[in-house]
Amino acid sequence: MSIRILVASALLAAAGCVGTLDPTPATDAGTTGGDGGGGGAARQAYLTNVYPIMQAKCAGCHSTTAANATPFVGASAANAYEAIVGFTSVVGNFTETGAAMYTKVMAAGGHQGKTYSADEQTKIKAWLAAEVSERNGGPGPGPGPGPETPAQATARLISEWSGCLKLEDFTGNNFGGRWSNKGSNGGNCEQCHTSGAYGMIANDDNTLMYNTLSSNKYYMLAFFAVDLTDMANPKMVPNFGTFERVGLRMIPHQDHPAFNTARTDDAMVALQQLYDLTMGYKTAGTCGTPKIPQ
Ligand code: HEC
Ligand code: HEC
Repeated sequence: MSIRILVASALLAAAGCVGTLDPTPATDAGTTGGDGGGGGAARQAYLTNVYPIMQAKCAGCHSTTAANATPFVGASAANAYEAIVGFTSVVGNFTETGAAMYTKVMAAGGHQGKTYSADEQTKIKAWLAAEVSERNGGPGPGPGPGPETPAQATARLISEWSGCLKLEDFTGNNFGGRWSNKGSNGGNCEQCHTSGAYGMIANDDNTLMYNTLSSNKYYMLAFFAVDLTDMANPKMVPNFGTFERVGLRMIPHQDHPAFNTARTDDAMVALQQLYDLTMGYKTAGTCGTPKIPQ
């Protein structure tokens, strides 16, 4: 557990919010969401240029009081930044290829009838670039030191990973069963995520889990994250960070059921096992054809 998570948990506990459904006031610890960066210029860019777009086009279904769709649009500027950056299923690794709040709406046909104008695209891309820079200590918006931009590296790694995941490892390790039956203080994960609600799927059908994670990057990115902290060596990592944020009920997940986030937890072990096997194929060059195009 990182110092940051410990600090955030302590603040939540001090605010009397652990174990209750009280809304938690935004804190500085919350802005970091446990994964570093974000909070300075990027925060301001979101609040000034992007939050108004989210309010106009997305709040109708995604406001923090929404019951069916991921609640990432804060009710006021005071909690708006914390509301969006804490959702992996919305911001991913903050690149134009890894942030669903951009890719989903930019996809052919848009998302739920919504598209972004050219001006909105420019504003969102500028904000995302500022986040990538702040969170990875990078050289600022634009290409990193390597031949690829952060967005290109993200798209490549997601595509490669989709070919490296193997059905036999999902069935062999019962990955789906171990995640769907993982407990929380509000029931097992499958109780709410069996059909993939909120960008997270936990289903005991291992074939369905393999098909979903290997062909849909939104679900893949709940379990695996593209790490850009070293742009000379960007890589896929197990997404323990998102489970820590959610399971420890850090902002904006303060109403989520609490669950065990220790690396010794059976589902976390299953994730590490699947990761190690998959990375093994990648290292050995024995991956299959990517199912997700770049
Ligand atoms: C008419 C309602 C509606 C509107 C408006 C809407 N969404 Fe959604 N959105 C949904 C529903 C329902 C889902 C879950 C099913 C899906 O993935 O399409 C969803 C899923 C998502 C997801 C995937 C994350 C997840 O947890 O499932 C993202 C990201 C997202 N929306 C972003 C946006 C953005 C950005 C806007 C505004 C530009 C927007 N949505 C507008 C209804 C809406
Ligand atoms: C009682 C219903 C319920 C149960 C049980 C539940 N969840 Fe959730 N989950 C939600 C809701 C609602 C959201 C969206 C709001 C939020 O994140 O707080 C969510 C969101 C998530 C997200 C997406 C967070 C993001 O960053 O986009 C993850 C990951 C997640 N849950 C993991 C789990 C795991 C793991 C379990 C089992 C240990 C679990 N959930 C059990 C209701 C539930």
